[in-house]
Amino acid sequence: MLDFRRAEARDSDDILAWRNDPVAVETSLTRSRVAPDDHARWFASALASPKRVLVMVTEGDAKVGNVRFDIRGTEALVSINLNPAMRGRGYGQTALEGAEALLHDRLPLLLVAEIRRTNLQSLKIFQRAGYAIDKHRSTGDVHCLTRRLTG
Ligand SMILES: CC(C)(COP(=O)(O)OP(=O)(O)OC[C@H]1O[C@@H](n2cnc3c(N)ncnc32)[C@H](O)[C@@H]1OP(=O)(O)O)[C@@H](O)C(=O)NCCC(=O)NCCS
Repeated sequence: MLDFRRAEARDSDDILAWRNDPVAVETSLTRSRVAPDDHARWFASALASPKRVLVMVTEGDAKVGNVRFDIRGTEALVSINLNPAMRGRGYGQTALEGAEALLHDRLPLLLVAEIRRTNLQSLKIFQRAGYAIDKHRSTGDVHCLTRRLTG
């Protein structure tokens, strides 16, 4: 069974390592690695910001991955990155859905995900979790998917 909690300072190294894993770099919108100093600055400010909800997903002692919500007004940009050792095992959709519980005091929100068209695995889990492609917001390489989350 998966558990969900807010990320803490002790999660910083794992989140950077997962972000710089080659598969995550390839699927990211920037397609670039994140430098440790940039990550440290970003992570500290993200933990302190009411506009970011960083969720750690765990199973027992194992860290499964993280889900991030960047809140911008009435919308929240969603991204998910699993621990590379935990990918391809069916955790993604449950992680995505369960993390939404940590948004309970921020609703209603339009959840928005920007996913490379080639990232079929990610498109599949978002669609199964109730997101739908918004053609008007999608671009050549990137699908924009949305899901309305009310209380
Ligand atoms: C994307 C990610 C969250 C998916 O979670 P996951 O638990 O690994 O995904 P699953 O194992 O449940 O796979 C989801 C589905 O995609 C399918 N799939 C896997 N690789 C695929 C591929 N290359 N093409 C099409 N479908 C694929 C799986 O078979 C599964 O479908 P099924 O349940 O019908 O068999 C995870 O792999 C990850 O963190 N990847 C790196 C970062 C990333 O891409 N994040 C998303 C950016 S928005």
